[in-house]
Amino acid sequence: MFKGKVVIVGASNVGSAVLTKLLDFQLASEIALIDLNENKCKGEALDANDATSCIHSLNIRTYHGDYSDCKDADLIIITAGPSIKPGEKADRLILSKTNCKIMSSVMSEITKYTKDALILMITNPLDVATYHVSTQFDYPREKIIGTGTMLETFRLRRIIADRYHIDPKNIHGYVLGEHGNSAFTAWSTVNVAGLGLEHVDEYFHFNDKLDKKAIEQALVNRAYDIINLKGYTNTGIAMVAARFTKSFMYNEHTILPMSAVLEGEYGLSDVALSIPRMICADGIVRSFAPHLPKEELDLLYASAESVKKAIASAKE
Ligand code: 2OP
Repeated sequence: MFKGKVVIVGASNVGSAVLTKLLDFQLASEIALIDLNENKCKGEALDANDATSCIHSLNIRTYHGDYSDCKDADLIIITAGPSIKPGEKADRLILSKTNCKIMSSVMSEITKYTKDALILMITNPLDVATYHVSTQFDYPREKIIGTGTMLETFRLRRIIADRYHIDPKNIHGYVLGEHGNSAFTAWSTVNVAGLGLEHVDEYFHFNDKLDKKAIEQALVNRAYDIINLKGYTNTGIAMVAARFTKSFMYNEHTILPMSAVLEGEYGLSDVALSIPRMICADGIVRSFAPHLPKEELDLLYASAESVKKAIASAKE
Protein backbone atom coordinates (compact mmCIF):
# COMPACT_ATOMS: atom_id res chain seq x y z
CA MET A 1 0.00 0.00 0.00
CA PHE A 2 1.26 3.46 -0.87
CA LYS A 3 2.04 5.44 2.28
CA GLY A 4 3.62 8.83 2.42
CA LYS A 5 3.13 11.64 4.87
CA VAL A 6 3.88 15.18 3.76
CA VAL A 7 3.87 18.33 5.88
CA ILE A 8 3.60 21.62 4.00
CA VAL A 9 4.83 24.67 5.92
CA GLY A 10 3.15 27.79 4.56
CA ALA A 11 -0.43 27.79 3.26
CA SER A 12 -0.48 30.85 1.05
CA ASN A 13 -0.27 30.95 -2.75
CA VAL A 14 2.58 28.47 -3.13
CA GLY A 15 1.79 26.10 -0.25
CA SER A 16 -1.84 25.74 -1.25
CA ALA A 17 -0.88 25.15 -4.89
CA VAL A 18 1.59 22.45 -3.80
CA LEU A 19 -1.17 20.83 -1.73
CA THR A 20 -3.45 20.77 -4.77
CA LYS A 21 -0.79 19.23 -7.01
CA LEU A 22 0.05 16.52 -4.48
CA LEU A 23 -3.64 15.65 -4.34
CA ASP A 24 -4.06 15.78 -8.11
CA PHE A 25 -1.18 13.38 -8.62
CA GLN A 26 -1.90 11.30 -5.51
CA LEU A 27 1.62 11.69 -4.19
CA ALA A 28 0.85 11.27 -0.47
CA SER A 29 -1.55 9.36 1.74
CA GLU A 30 -1.60 12.11 4.37
CA ILE A 31 -0.90 15.84 4.08
CA ALA A 32 -0.70 18.24 7.02
CA LEU A 33 -0.72 21.97 6.36
CA ILE A 34 0.86 24.46 8.79
CA ASP A 35 0.65 28.26 8.74
CA LEU A 36 0.73 31.10 11.26
CA ASN A 37 -2.50 32.28 9.67
CA GLU A 38 -4.76 29.66 11.29
CA ASN A 39 -7.93 30.54 9.43
CA LYS A 40 -6.35 30.53 5.99
CA CYS A 41 -4.65 27.25 6.84
CA LYS A 42 -7.84 25.63 8.14
CA GLY A 43 -9.72 26.87 5.09
CA GLU A 44 -7.17 25.50 2.63
CA ALA A 45 -7.05 22.15 4.45
CA LEU A 46 -10.85 21.84 4.54
CA ASP A 47 -11.18 22.80 0.90
CA ALA A 48 -8.57 20.19 -0.04
CA ASN A 49 -10.30 17.68 2.19
CA ASP A 50 -13.49 18.09 0.17
CA ALA A 51 -11.52 17.24 -2.94
CA THR A 52 -10.14 14.02 -1.48
CA SER A 53 -13.38 12.09 -1.73
CA CYS A 54 -13.32 12.57 -5.51
CA ILE A 55 -9.95 10.85 -5.79
CA HIS A 56 -10.44 7.28 -6.88
CA SER A 57 -7.44 5.23 -6.00
CA LEU A 58 -6.15 6.71 -2.75
CA ASN A 59 -7.84 7.72 0.46
CA ILE A 60 -5.80 10.85 1.20
CA ARG A 61 -6.22 12.70 4.47
CA THR A 62 -5.52 16.43 4.47
CA TYR A 63 -5.76 18.54 7.59
CA HIS A 64 -4.68 21.70 9.33
CA GLY A 65 -1.77 20.58 11.52
CA ASP A 66 1.06 21.85 13.67
CA TYR A 67 4.78 21.19 13.91
CA SER A 68 4.27 18.01 15.95
CA ASP A 69 2.98 16.50 12.68
CA CYS A 70 6.57 16.53 11.46
CA LYS A 71 7.50 13.68 13.79
CA ASP A 72 6.47 10.89 11.42
CA ALA A 73 6.57 12.88 8.17
CA ASP A 74 8.43 11.49 5.17
CA LEU A 75 8.69 14.85 3.48
CA ILE A 76 8.44 18.43 4.75
CA ILE A 77 7.95 21.10 2.10
CA ILE A 78 8.85 24.63 3.23
CA THR A 79 7.11 27.46 1.38
CA ALA A 80 6.85 29.98 4.26
CA GLY A 81 7.97 33.60 3.96
CA PRO A 82 7.15 36.53 1.70
CA SER A 83 7.77 36.48 -2.04
CA ILE A 84 8.70 39.27 -4.43
CA LYS A 85 5.71 41.55 -4.97
CA PRO A 86 4.64 43.35 -8.13
CA GLY A 87 6.73 46.48 -8.64
CA GLU A 88 9.42 45.40 -6.16
CA LYS A 89 13.06 45.13 -7.23
CA ALA A 90 13.24 42.14 -9.56
CA ASP A 91 15.68 40.09 -7.52
CA ARG A 92 14.78 37.27 -5.14
CA LEU A 93 18.00 37.98 -3.20
CA ILE A 94 16.42 41.06 -1.57
CA LEU A 95 14.44 38.59 0.58
CA SER A 96 17.61 37.03 2.05
CA LYS A 97 17.59 38.56 5.51
CA THR A 98 13.85 38.37 6.16
CA ASN A 99 13.44 34.83 4.96
CA CYS A 100 16.56 33.48 6.70
CA LYS A 101 15.03 34.73 9.95
CA ILE A 102 11.76 33.00 9.11
CA MET A 103 13.66 29.81 8.17
CA SER A 104 15.35 29.91 11.58
CA SER A 105 12.04 29.92 13.40
CA VAL A 106 10.58 27.21 11.13
CA MET A 107 13.64 24.97 11.59
CA SER A 108 13.77 25.45 15.34
CA GLU A 109 10.23 23.98 15.43
CA ILE A 110 10.87 21.17 12.93
CA THR A 111 14.02 19.98 14.70
CA LYS A 112 12.04 19.49 17.91
CA TYR A 113 10.17 16.66 16.20
CA THR A 114 12.32 15.09 13.50
CA LYS A 115 15.68 14.72 11.86
CA ASP A 116 14.46 11.95 9.60
CA ALA A 117 12.16 13.65 7.13
CA LEU A 118 13.45 14.90 3.84
CA ILE A 119 13.10 18.69 3.60
CA LEU A 120 12.20 20.29 0.28
CA MET A 121 12.91 24.02 0.25
CA ILE A 122 10.81 26.33 -1.90
CA THR A 123 11.14 29.61 0.01
CA ASN A 124 13.14 32.30 -1.82
CA PRO A 125 15.88 33.22 -2.23
CA LEU A 126 16.00 29.50 -2.71
CA ASP A 127 19.75 28.90 -2.57
CA VAL A 128 20.33 31.27 0.33
CA ALA A 129 17.49 29.65 2.29
CA THR A 130 18.73 26.14 1.44
CA TYR A 131 22.24 27.05 2.57
CA HIS A 132 20.96 28.64 5.78
CA VAL A 133 18.80 25.66 6.72
CA SER A 134 21.60 23.20 5.82
CA THR A 135 24.31 24.92 7.82
CA GLN A 136 22.70 26.57 10.84
CA PHE A 137 20.84 23.60 12.31
CA ASP A 138 21.71 20.17 13.53
CA TYR A 139 19.83 18.46 10.70
CA PRO A 140 21.36 15.92 8.27
CA ARG A 141 22.52 18.02 5.34
CA GLU A 142 21.87 15.29 2.79
CA LYS A 143 18.19 15.49 3.69
CA ILE A 144 17.83 19.15 2.64
CA ILE A 145 17.11 19.90 -1.00
CA GLY A 146 15.96 23.02 -2.81
CA THR A 147 13.76 23.03 -5.91
CA GLY A 148 16.41 25.23 -7.50
CA THR A 149 16.73 25.59 -11.25
CA MET A 150 14.30 22.77 -11.98
CA LEU A 151 11.79 25.54 -12.60
CA GLU A 152 14.07 27.48 -14.96
CA THR A 153 14.92 24.19 -16.69
CA PHE A 154 11.25 23.39 -17.31
CA ARG A 155 10.72 26.98 -18.49
CA LEU A 156 13.63 26.55 -20.92
CA ARG A 157 12.25 23.26 -22.24
CA ARG A 158 8.83 24.86 -22.82
CA ILE A 159 10.31 27.82 -24.72
CA ILE A 160 12.40 25.60 -27.01
CA ALA A 161 9.56 23.09 -27.44
CA ASP A 162 7.18 25.86 -28.50
CA ARG A 163 9.62 27.08 -31.13
CA TYR A 164 9.81 23.67 -32.80
CA HIS A 165 6.23 22.57 -31.94
CA ILE A 166 7.37 19.47 -30.12
CA ASP A 167 6.85 17.89 -26.73
CA PRO A 168 9.04 19.55 -24.04
CA LYS A 169 9.93 16.06 -22.82
CA ASN A 170 12.03 15.77 -25.97
CA ILE A 171 14.13 18.76 -24.93
CA HIS A 172 17.05 17.75 -22.77
CA GLY A 173 19.53 19.93 -20.92
CA TYR A 174 19.76 22.12 -17.87
CA VAL A 175 19.65 25.58 -16.45
CA LEU A 176 22.14 25.58 -13.55
CA GLY A 177 23.39 27.82 -10.75
CA GLU A 178 21.17 30.09 -8.66
CA HIS A 179 17.39 29.87 -8.79
CA GLY A 180 17.27 33.53 -9.67
CA ASN A 181 18.88 36.24 -11.73
CA SER A 182 22.29 34.55 -12.11
CA ALA A 183 20.85 31.21 -13.28
CA PHE A 184 22.44 30.27 -16.60
CA THR A 185 21.53 27.94 -19.41
CA ALA A 186 24.21 25.31 -19.81
CA TRP A 187 23.75 25.29 -23.58
CA SER A 188 26.42 22.63 -23.90
CA THR A 189 24.02 20.18 -22.19
CA VAL A 190 20.99 21.03 -24.37
CA ASN A 191 19.78 18.81 -27.20
CA VAL A 192 16.47 18.19 -28.96
CA ALA A 193 15.78 14.46 -29.23
CA GLY A 194 19.49 13.84 -29.49
CA LEU A 195 20.06 16.56 -32.10
CA GLY A 196 22.74 18.99 -31.00
CA LEU A 197 21.53 22.61 -31.04
CA GLU A 198 23.75 23.40 -34.01
CA HIS A 199 21.68 20.98 -36.15
CA VAL A 200 18.16 21.60 -34.92
CA ASP A 201 17.28 24.70 -36.97
CA GLU A 202 18.40 23.06 -40.19
CA TYR A 203 16.57 19.85 -39.30
CA PHE A 204 13.32 21.71 -38.66
CA HIS A 205 13.86 23.97 -41.72
CA PHE A 206 14.11 27.17 -39.68
CA ASN A 207 15.94 30.00 -41.42
CA ASP A 208 16.32 32.17 -38.32
CA LYS A 209 18.74 31.01 -35.66
CA LEU A 210 17.65 30.09 -32.13
CA ASP A 211 18.10 33.35 -30.21
CA LYS A 212 19.96 32.16 -27.11
CA LYS A 213 20.32 35.64 -25.63
CA ALA A 214 16.58 36.30 -25.89
CA ILE A 215 15.85 32.94 -24.25
CA GLU A 216 18.30 33.64 -21.41
CA GLN A 217 16.62 37.00 -20.82
CA ALA A 218 13.15 35.46 -20.93
CA LEU A 219 14.20 32.88 -18.34
CA VAL A 220 15.41 35.51 -15.90
CA ASN A 221 12.34 37.70 -16.47
CA ARG A 222 9.70 34.97 -16.50
CA ALA A 223 8.93 34.95 -12.77
CA TYR A 224 8.82 38.78 -12.56
CA ASP A 225 6.60 38.96 -15.65
CA ILE A 226 4.16 36.56 -14.00
CA ILE A 227 4.36 38.41 -10.67
CA ASN A 228 3.61 41.72 -12.39
CA LEU A 229 0.64 40.13 -14.15
CA LYS A 230 -1.00 38.01 -11.46
CA GLY A 231 0.78 39.07 -8.27
CA TYR A 232 2.71 35.89 -7.55
CA THR A 233 3.87 32.63 -9.15
CA ASN A 234 2.58 29.31 -7.88
CA THR A 235 1.50 26.86 -10.57
CA GLY A 236 4.94 26.28 -12.09
CA ILE A 237 6.70 25.88 -8.77
CA ALA A 238 3.94 23.63 -7.42
CA MET A 239 4.40 21.32 -10.40
CA VAL A 240 8.14 21.30 -9.74
CA ALA A 241 7.46 20.25 -6.13
CA ALA A 242 5.15 17.51 -7.39
CA ARG A 243 7.78 16.28 -9.84
CA PHE A 244 10.31 16.03 -7.05
CA THR A 245 7.81 14.36 -4.70
CA LYS A 246 7.02 11.71 -7.31
CA SER A 247 10.67 10.90 -7.71
CA PHE A 248 11.08 10.69 -3.93
CA MET A 249 7.91 8.72 -3.14
CA TYR A 250 8.41 6.25 -6.00
CA ASN A 251 12.18 5.93 -5.57
CA GLU A 252 12.65 6.86 -9.23
CA HIS A 253 16.35 7.77 -9.37
CA THR A 254 15.42 10.69 -11.64
CA ILE A 255 18.13 13.24 -12.36
CA LEU A 256 16.82 16.75 -11.76
CA PRO A 257 18.66 20.07 -11.45
CA MET A 258 18.19 20.89 -7.77
CA SER A 259 19.91 22.91 -5.09
CA ALA A 260 21.97 21.71 -2.14
CA VAL A 261 25.22 22.76 -0.51
CA LEU A 262 28.02 21.97 -2.95
CA GLU A 263 30.62 19.48 -1.74
CA GLY A 264 33.54 20.42 -3.96
CA GLU A 265 31.80 20.01 -7.32
CA TYR A 266 33.50 22.40 -9.76
CA GLY A 267 35.82 23.28 -6.87
CA LEU A 268 32.94 24.98 -5.01
CA SER A 269 31.76 24.59 -1.45
CA ASP A 270 30.16 26.83 1.16
CA VAL A 271 27.32 27.75 -1.14
CA ALA A 272 24.10 26.08 -2.31
CA LEU A 273 23.46 25.93 -6.06
CA SER A 274 21.69 23.69 -8.53
CA ILE A 275 23.48 21.00 -10.47
CA PRO A 276 21.98 17.74 -11.77
CA ARG A 277 21.19 15.44 -8.84
CA MET A 278 19.80 11.93 -8.66
CA ILE A 279 16.65 11.80 -6.52
CA CYS A 280 15.21 8.69 -4.92
CA ALA A 281 13.60 7.62 -1.64
CA ASP A 282 16.77 8.58 0.25
CA GLY A 283 16.82 12.09 -1.22
CA ILE A 284 19.89 13.04 -3.23
CA VAL A 285 21.89 9.88 -3.82
CA ARG A 286 24.35 11.34 -6.30
CA SER A 287 25.26 14.74 -7.70
CA PHE A 288 26.70 15.29 -11.17
CA ALA A 289 29.15 17.86 -12.42
CA PRO A 290 28.88 17.57 -16.20
CA HIS A 291 31.79 18.97 -18.16
CA LEU A 292 31.10 22.63 -18.91
CA PRO A 293 33.02 24.80 -21.37
CA LYS A 294 34.88 27.78 -19.93
CA GLU A 295 32.18 30.36 -20.68
CA GLU A 296 29.59 28.29 -18.79
CA LEU A 297 31.98 27.61 -15.91
CA ASP A 298 32.51 31.37 -15.62
CA LEU A 299 28.75 31.81 -15.33
CA LEU A 300 28.60 29.13 -12.65
CA TYR A 301 31.33 30.87 -10.64
CA ALA A 302 29.59 34.23 -11.04
CA SER A 303 26.37 32.64 -9.80
CA ALA A 304 28.19 31.16 -6.79
CA GLU A 305 29.65 34.60 -5.98
CA SER A 306 26.28 36.26 -6.15
CA VAL A 307 24.68 33.70 -3.80
CA LYS A 308 27.67 33.83 -1.42
CA LYS A 309 27.32 37.61 -1.17
CA ALA A 310 23.63 37.27 -0.34
CA ILE A 311 24.41 34.62 2.30
CA ALA A 312 26.93 36.99 3.89
CA SER A 313 24.54 39.93 3.77
CA ALA A 314 21.79 37.87 5.43
CA LYS A 315 24.12 37.33 8.39
CA GLU A 316 24.89 41.04 8.93
C1 2OP B 1 9.50 31.59 -9.51
O1 2OP B 1 10.52 31.53 -10.20
C2 2OP B 1 9.23 33.37 -7.89
O2 2OP B 1 10.89 31.79 -7.59
C3 2OP B 1 9.60 31.97 -8.08
O3 2OP B 1 8.39 31.37 -9.98
